[in-house]
Amino acid sequence: MEVEKFRYDNQIVRMFLFATILWGVVGFLVGLLIALQLPFPSFNLGEMFTFGRLRPLHTNAVIFAFVGNGIFLGYYYSAQRLLKARNYSDVLSRIHFWGWQLIIVAAALTLVLGYTTSKEYAELEWPIDIMIALVWVVWGINMIGTILKRREKHMYVAIWFYISTLITVAVLHIVNSFEMPVSFLKSYSLYAGVQDALVQWWYGHNAVAFFLTTPVLGLMYYYLPKAAQRPVYSYKLSIIHFWALIFIYIWAGPHHLLYSSTPDWAQSLGTVFSIMLIAPSWGGMLNGLLTLRGAWDKVRNDPVLKFFVVAVTAYGMATFEGPMLSIKSVNALSHFTDWTIAHVHVGALGWNGFMLFGIIYWLTPKLYKTTLFSRKLANAHFWLGTLGILFYAIPLYWAGITQGLMWKQFTPEGVLQYPNFLETVL
Ligand code: HEM
Ligand code: HEM
Repeated sequence: MEVEKFRYDNQIVRMFLFATILWGVVGFLVGLLIALQLPFPSFNLGEMFTFGRLRPLHTNAVIFAFVGNGIFLGYYYSAQRLLKARNYSDVLSRIHFWGWQLIIVAAALTLVLGYTTSKEYAELEWPIDIMIALVWVVWGINMIGTILKRREKHMYVAIWFYISTLITVAVLHIVNSFEMPVSFLKSYSLYAGVQDALVQWWYGHNAVAFFLTTPVLGLMYYYLPKAAQRPVYSYKLSIIHFWALIFIYIWAGPHHLLYSSTPDWAQSLGTVFSIMLIAPSWGGMLNGLLTLRGAWDKVRNDPVLKFFVVAVTAYGMATFEGPMLSIKSVNALSHFTDWTIAHVHVGALGWNGFMLFGIIYWLTPKLYKTTLFSRKLANAHFWLGTLGILFYAIPLYWAGITQGLMWKQFTPEGVLQYPNFLETVL
């Protein structure tokens, strides 16, 4: 019998690794700068670097540049191995990489120059939207091509998570980006009023679902068992929570529009589906944590596993809190306050950030056939990050709830007791 020989493309993984780290640093630094701008307005350094322009730069940089490149890094390494095949096309992989970096640079430049559609998480103007759609299709062809030429018959659950990301993000991005260009960098949305809001938050919420959750769960199902050297706790559970998650997530968007002019039935629908989301979300969280059964002694020593444990725990916390925030009476208190910001960062920094840090620490020594430069430094990173998230989130919860309660105070005459917004943040 002839032994078939083939090689995986590790170069593309290394390229995405560099991009993830680079954009991570940029995104976090911009986060730090806008955080400083809140109490110290003098950090608004000229028109291009005001809070209004840098905030969307932060969100785009961390979500699409840091987490985006991180997803592709994790995907290109794991998919080749899970499918036992080199990527369908090295050329498409390169176009994917350079196309994505070009989009990021174009996004950064246009945002600081003030070009924006003003739709949250979809601020980029129409030429960049078209580039995103094209690059996404390139990834799609590359992924489907690899799946078709695979040598492993069974498609492991991580691959299903990647496919759901590919399809849904494409649909969300294209439908939400229907717009009428009036000049090279100016367009108007094709939707108006309530329809615009509904489409926007159907997109916005599912960006959380299919950009910050499903691909990262796919990565979790590959890297966590690998790092712990344990099989997934329950493969059946992974399949069940996958289908339940993707079915339920897509309907939950209206929880961003509670108490708005969106029809009441749509708001209630959003609430009901958001509450149901606890089940599949916690299915994934528990499956991740229980995979570590019998490996907790390793967690004590291995920084990679430590990052994964905090990441999966943060995922559990954010997906418990999210459904609570979707209940109208809770949202009446939390909406417009810093509570939301705390929720966002437990999810985005805790879950996404820590998953990617763990993956980077596990993968880099393998890619370069070496050992970690300093385990001590990795541990220091872990503790700094974990404490950082706690110091970030806990005061914001406190402040957010206080803010919400202050807005509910009335004088005996029936007038707001704290009419000036600044009184609630100082
Ligand atoms: C060093 C780490 C980070 C810092 C210092 C930071 C800081 C900030 C600040 C100051 C804001 C604006 C809050 C406001 O308007 O009151 C913000 C918003 C936001 N950040 Fe971060 N951030 C960090 C990491 C991340 C990461 C890793 C992600 C995602 C993967 C992320 C996603 C977001 C999102 C989505 C918003 C907008 C939230 C909303 O509109 O409700 N951040 N961040
Ligand atoms: C079961 C899962 C979840 C549910 C039901 C949920 C629900 C919610 C709700 C109700 C809000 C506040 C809406 C408002 O008052 O404006 C919110 C905001 C947000 N959540 Fe979650 N959440 C979930 C998980 C997550 C996770 C895991 C992440 C990050 C990885 C995340 C990221 C965000 C972001 C970025 C926002 C701010 C959106 C904005 O700009 O206004 N959520 N979520």
